[in-house]
Amino acid sequence: MKSCVLENLRSEHRAMRKLLELLQHQIELVADDRQPNGELLLEIAEYFRSYPDLFHHPKEELILRCVVRRKADAAEDLATLEAEHEACSRELHRFSRAVVRLLLDPADGSDRFLSAALAFLDNERRHLSWEEQRFFSLAAECLTAEDWAEIEASLANFADPRFERDAQARFGRIDRALGSWRSRMAA
Ligand SMILES: [Fe+2]
Ligand SMILES: [Fe+2]
Repeated sequence: MKSCVLENLRSEHRAMRKLLELLQHQIELVADDRQPNGELLLEIAEYFRSYPDLFHHPKEELILRCVVRRKADAAEDLATLEAEHEACSRELHRFSRAVVRLLLDPADGSDRFLSAALAFLDNERRHLSWEEQRFFSLAAECLTAEDWAEIEASLANFADPRFERDAQARFGRIDRALGSWRSRMAA
């Protein structure tokens, strides 16, 4: 059965993919010895630290724990998801430090930035695809209307709408930057 919770997760994935696209462009600038947009890089790091890491991943783990109650052999998927989220946090931490280092010391920080940013980008894209192909369909297939009602009640206690709104407002600014970058590329 489908739920608006899954639809929200998919829409959060679309937002993350847009930011990763912007990040890819910044990586290309640094690789070409051109000036990156430091403010944008910091915003991307801040967004991933404050939204996916704090809100998106715990929501997914809650859902998959519920799937395991219905389908015991999904325990392996839950272990994979938790391990992947730990890895995402580590890559994000490394990427954030590399952004700061790049901005403070561009001459010395660019190699470290390129390695950390590419690893972060590849890991995030692979993780999003795995979830879309495996985990979301598993949840849609196994969970009942009752399970989703329980999940929605837990999420209502967990996610403070103010934090979610703030994070989404920040994403809105970055999204507008993406729009103007795309129109410049198309011109
Ligand atoms: Fe995830
Ligand atoms: Fe996700």
